[in-house]
Amino acid sequence: MIEDVYAVENIIPEHEPERQFFYIKKMQEIVFAKEQEYGRKLTYHISTFGCQMNFKDSEKLAGVLEEIGYVEVDDEKADFCLYNTCTVRENANSRVYGRLGYLGKLKSKRPEMIIAMCGCMMQEEHVVETIKKSYRFVDIIFGTHNIYKLAELLFTYFAENSEIKKKHKMVVDILKGTDQIVEELPSKLKASFKAGINIMFGCNNFCTYCIVPYVRGRERSRKPEDIINEIKDFVSKGVIEVMLLGQNVNSYGKNLENPISFAELLRRVDEIEGLKRIRFMTSHPKDLSDELIEVMKNAKKVCHHIHLPVQSGSSRLLKKMNRVYSKEDYLRLIDKIRAAIPDIAITTDIIVGFPGETEEDFEETLDVVRYAKYASAFTFIYSKRTGTPAASFPDQVDEATIKDRFDRLLKEVGKYSEEYAKSLEGQVMSVLVEERDREVDPEKNYLTGRLDNNLLVHFEGSDDLIGQIINVKLSECKGFYYIGERYML
Ligand code: SAH
Ligand code: SF4
Ligand code: F3S
Repeated sequence: MIEDVYAVENIIPEHEPERQFFYIKKMQEIVFAKEQEYGRKLTYHISTFGCQMNFKDSEKLAGVLEEIGYVEVDDEKADFCLYNTCTVRENANSRVYGRLGYLGKLKSKRPEMIIAMCGCMMQEEHVVETIKKSYRFVDIIFGTHNIYKLAELLFTYFAENSEIKKKHKMVVDILKGTDQIVEELPSKLKASFKAGINIMFGCNNFCTYCIVPYVRGRERSRKPEDIINEIKDFVSKGVIEVMLLGQNVNSYGKNLENPISFAELLRRVDEIEGLKRIRFMTSHPKDLSDELIEVMKNAKKVCHHIHLPVQSGSSRLLKKMNRVYSKEDYLRLIDKIRAAIPDIAITTDIIVGFPGETEEDFEETLDVVRYAKYASAFTFIYSKRTGTPAASFPDQVDEATIKDRFDRLLKEVGKYSEEYAKSLEGQVMSVLVEERDREVDPEKNYLTGRLDNNLLVHFEGSDDLIGQIINVKLSECKGFYYIGERYML
């Protein structure tokens, strides 16, 4: 009988990951019983907001769900619906509340649907309070430190809401922090040929505007052996490109028992046979080492692209932001990187309207944009995050001024990225063919390929090229992408 499945006292393994494998087995029994009851497979859908870390987490969550027996569907009309949230800016937050309203409506028509919320927003107490009060239809809430516990939380949900008890009980499990890294659970890659690899978790930098250190906890690096083994395992399954992920990869390895630099890790990853391309994100300018530049220059597989968020060009504001570098330090760094690797594509993040930003400060930012000639830049309007030091700084900049500066910045940034893209027109470059493109020109049989520098080119070709690295001629620059053609010697 299905109730017996809930009799688990005294047999739950104490340690991870065994404990989760135990719950995965239990959930397989529950899902199987439901399949018999409904006469069909159970479905899941994950909506992911935010950065690469969240997308990576979603692959892990999907891996566990598939192991349990759920199958993925494209929209939220699923048996299990999960929102993996971001809270880095207020608009990320409001989008989630908006969508939650829609989920509530879906659930009122299909009460058996399970709604779960996880990710960075859930690490904020006021968010969880709001959900408990105003979105009572949510079933499971967990945070960033315990995503590996999904099977256990699902089991707890089913156990507490099984037919016998007949009352809705929300399962909430948020940890304030952790020093645990649980590995070896299943994970489902979005594309079979490329994978994100967590090399570290959390952040210790406490830039004064940023909420990430509060919701992702302190910096924890994974052991190099574990990282290398995971990559080797992926490569044996067909992965040819990896993206090494961390909020500040340049401080990787400093707190390990046997400290190792990020540059050294990169050198070791470069030696992995069968791997073709390596990317990494994100580099904090304050501790980007000469050793890293040297490794990037000499490595065979590391893409000539570096994302180097400047945030502001004003040394005065950089100090208030706690970025620990000045405008001059940053520009010197750009010079050094370009001298060593002339074809490098440099991209950045910029915040407009940080508290106290004057017209002169903003001009300094424009000045950096002109000097650095970024291949592309993500531009953000400063968003006040509760609990961060900058939220209580005086002189918050008014909306009209911010909008004006933001538009001017976009124009300037656009000019250089177009110029950069144009400079490569006509060249033959290697691309990783990622997918079929249906948007640029639905009449054409276009594929999308990603260049070393992260730009995209669309060209005609057959499906069997997907997942391969091939040469493409960048025939026509269309601003931020190219139309090209396959190039064979
Ligand atoms: N760890 C990375 C950034 C992660 S967050 C780094 O330090 O480079 C991604 C980007 O979001 C940041 O680079 C910053 O530009 C932006 N950001 C973070 N907090 C913000 C806020 N409160 N308002 C606006 N933009 C913000
Ligand atoms: Fe946020 Fe700064 Fe950490 Fe990046 S380095 S995640 S901007 S605190
Ligand atoms: Fe957002 Fe969390 Fe990433 S706040 S940007 S999803 S670390």
